[in-house]
Amino acid sequence: MTDAPDGTLFATARDPANRADPYPLYARLRAHPVARQDDGTWVASGHAAIRALLHDPRVSSEDLPPAEHPPTGNPVKDWIVNPLKDWITDRHRPFIFRDPPDHGTLRRQVMGQFTIARVRGMKRRTESLVAECLDRCAGRRTFDLVDDLAYPLPVTVICDLLGVPREDEPRFHAWATQLATALEPESRHDEELRARNTETFDAIAAYMRDLIREKRRAPADDLLSGLATAKDGQAGRMSDPDLVATAILLLIAGHETTVNLITNGMLTLLRHPAEFARLRADPERAPRVIEELLRYEPPVHFRTRLTRAPIPVAGTVIPEGAPLVLLFAAGNRDPARFPHPDRFDPDREDNQHFGFGGALHYCVGAPLARIEAEAALTALAARLSAPRLAEDPPPYRPGASLRGPKRLLLHIDGIG
Ligand code: HEM
Repeated sequence: MTDAPDGTLFATARDPANRADPYPLYARLRAHPVARQDDGTWVASGHAAIRALLHDPRVSSEDLPPAEHPPTGNPVKDWIVNPLKDWITDRHRPFIFRDPPDHGTLRRQVMGQFTIARVRGMKRRTESLVAECLDRCAGRRTFDLVDDLAYPLPVTVICDLLGVPREDEPRFHAWATQLATALEPESRHDEELRARNTETFDAIAAYMRDLIREKRRAPADDLLSGLATAKDGQAGRMSDPDLVATAILLLIAGHETTVNLITNGMLTLLRHPAEFARLRADPERAPRVIEELLRYEPPVHFRTRLTRAPIPVAGTVIPEGAPLVLLFAAGNRDPARFPHPDRFDPDREDNQHFGFGGALHYCVGAPLARIEAEAALTALAARLSAPRLAEDPPPYRPGASLRGPKRLLLHIDGIG
């Protein structure tokens, strides 16, 4: 650690030109496990530093800019309706963007509905959805993993879990596509994108309010009915704006992440044909393969935070009020934590990766995501005959945080 940190490295790593392989740049960042970048952002890239910061109560998740509808020219909307909506939105942020004590209350209510039985109940349904997607492609010699399977699957699964009527599902597919950009920190600086996301958010919120009313009138055995009717011992019933924010969070947080795990997973397996063959021969290896994928090619490369006080860490001090990036994907390949970190090795022991984050904000949907990835990857291994990558590297979507291929074209001899 003799040289001064290069304050442009993180910007270079986010450059779309480096999307296919940002890992060498992450390795250079790790030379200073916590370093200030030229734009004032602090980046944590070492495993130990990320872990310490995830557990530090001085690190806040409340780093979203205030909600702001763009002007419409209609005075009633611009001065009354939309400012009121923004005020409500700001007070009812989804809990991924909240700190204790609110975060704990909302998360506890959600976890109370994300029961093992409910999630396990999705396994069979997920397997049959995967089978349906593959059946639809029978007779084909090319297969786009993104469009044909990975993209539609998680939205359908979340709609089922929430209890969205099947006929309304196509609207969720369109909303999920638009809102996937909302978790990208870069989108905060893009006025046009923010305006489109606000419009989409309003549309889902209106839909959700009606659906919640319906669930309260006639509760069913689904997650939204449970959330809408259950009373938390301390907090009582979840408010409608928090319910709407939570339902939208589940849709956004559980969609593109899962798409990326399936797509990055297949890409990695086809780049490691011996591992692909082993999975095909022994589907029981799937959980190991998936844990290693979450380390080696994680769907979420980084998340942002804000410091509430000066924080001494890794030989430096992050000042109060600093924007902070937890670069999970760099921590996952830290040689100080993982032997041969650039090797894809599903037999690796002690694989404590940051694929699902950590500490207070550890992913609520992790068990569901594992079920979906396992259903998809084992079915692909079993049913695709002689899959070959049509392009390597594939083209990537713009996101640097939620990073994954835009399409993954495979040549196949058939689908069994
Ligand atoms: C492979 C798929 C997935 C990956 C890689 C993933 C990854 C993550 C990560 C890294 C975080 C931590 C965020 C932070 O620290 O700021 C997180 C949080 C979260 N995830 Fe996931 N996720 C996946 C699937 C899902 C699914 C399927 C759902 C729900 C249906 C979900 C719901 C959530 C929620 C609600 C949070 C916020 C938890 C909190 O703030 O307490 N995720 N996820």
